[in-house]
Order: sequence, then structure tokens, then C-alpha cells
Amino acid sequence: MKVSIIGPGGIGGVVATLAARRGHDVILTNSRGAATLEDQVRTLGPNAREASLVEAVQAADIVVLAIPLTALSRLPAKDFDGRIIIDMMNYYPMRESQIAVLDDGEMTSAEMVQRELPGAHVIKALNNQDAPHLLLNAGTGSALPVAGDDAEAKESVAAFLRDLGYETIDAGMLRDSWRMEPSNARKLVMP
Ligand SMILES: NC(=O)c1ccc[n+]([C@@H]2O[C@H](COP(=O)([O-])OP(=O)(O)OC[C@H]3O[C@@H](n4cnc5c(N)ncnc54)[C@H](OP(=O)(O)O)[C@@H]3O)[C@@H](O)[C@H]2O)c1
Repeated sequence: MKVSIIGPGGIGGVVATLAARRGHDVILTNSRGAATLEDQVRTLGPNAREASLVEAVQAADIVVLAIPLTALSRLPAKDFDGRIIIDMMNYYPMRESQIAVLDDGEMTSAEMVQRELPGAHVIKALNNQDAPHLLLNAGTGSALPVAGDDAEAKESVAAFLRDLGYETIDAGMLRDSWRMEPSNARKLVMP
């Protein structure tokens, strides 16, 4: 598979490592540009390269979104039309600015991502392990929840995660993905 990582930082970098290990073509992109990714690309090996954000999105079978949630509005939404997106972002209001629709429990963060990228197939996954454990737990029998509204895209992501070394658990629709979010205070108001 061609897997593009938007934001190969702490956690996106782990997904890049796991995907490269399994022989996937890995494309890295960030906001600071190619020069800042050279070392990481070299470390990942011959199946890795960097690209502009739009090229990375267009080339990918699966796009992994691993940027701060507050950077979401800076993405070129139209370019994501038709793409399968793994949303591994978490909302940490104490670290980032407040987002009213999330604070009010109007929607899950994954539903907000889907609202911002309306033409994409957004799947919530890979957000509930920290970076060291995501690396360590691969291949140990650990399971990850996967939520999404598009059954076909959800199965594609589940197959990708199984290939990386994880069992998967169907966590329902995007509206159900509050169960996978770090801030479970919202469950008091979500249906
Ligand atoms: N770290 C964890 O253990 C962990 C676990 C689960 C989920 N998460 C979630 O994953 C996301 C990333 O967390 P992190 O800890 O990996 O953060 P991080 O180490 O700061 O990495 C963030 C990455 O996003 C890139 N980025 C930021 N704005 C961008 C933009 N507008 N366009 C393209 N790339 C952009 C950064 O590159 P530049 O510096 O070049 O912009 C960097 O590669 C967050 O939503 C977090 O809640 C993290």
C-alpha cells in the first residue's frame, strides 16, 4: 500500500516506522518542508520518501492524519475528496485552543474532522496508544478500536492495522468514537 503520513512527528513517525517495516511505500509530509524530513526518510529506508502535502494526499491509498487537531483548518479540504483518512488526532483543550463543538459535546472530534474534510472517508483509529506503546505493542496480540461511517474504508483501515501487527475491534460509527477519545467527560452528554 501507499501510506502517506501527514505529520510524522511523535506518533505519526511510529506509524511510518511500522508501515515501512512491513514494506509499504511511505510518504512523509509536514509543514516545514522536505529538508526537515531528510534524516527520517533515510532512516525509514528505500520505500520512504517525502512529498508536498497535496502530492502525498493524492498518491496515497491511506492517508494518516497525525497533526495537532487545531491545524486541521489549514488543510486543503478539496484535495482529500475520495481519500481514506485515518484520524489519529486527539483533542487536548489544555494544550491547544478550545473548540466549542467538542467542549459542548455536539460531535466527536472524528465527526468534526469529517465535517472539515467532507469528501474524505474518515476512519478513527490509532489514537488511543501513546507513541512508545504503539511501537512496542505491535505484534503482541494487542487490539485497536476502529470507528467509521464507511464500511469499506473501515475494513481497508482494519486490514492495514492487522498488517502492522494489531488485532482490530469494530468501534462503530464516527459518532460512537467518543469512547476512544482521551476526554471521556463528553460521554455525559453524547447519546
Ligand atoms: N504523541 C502521542 O503519543 C499521541 C498518541 C495518540 C494520538 N496523538 C495525536 O496525534 C497528533 C500528533 O501528535 P504528536 O505528539 O505526534 O505531535 P508532534 O510530535 O508535535 O507532531 C506533529 C506533526 O504534525 C506536523 N504538522 C503540524 N501542523 C501541520 C500542518 N499544518 N501541515 C502538515 N503537517 C503539520 C508537524 O510537522 P511541522 O513541525 O513541520 O509542522 C509534526 O510532524 C495530535 O493530534 C495528538 O493528539 C498523539
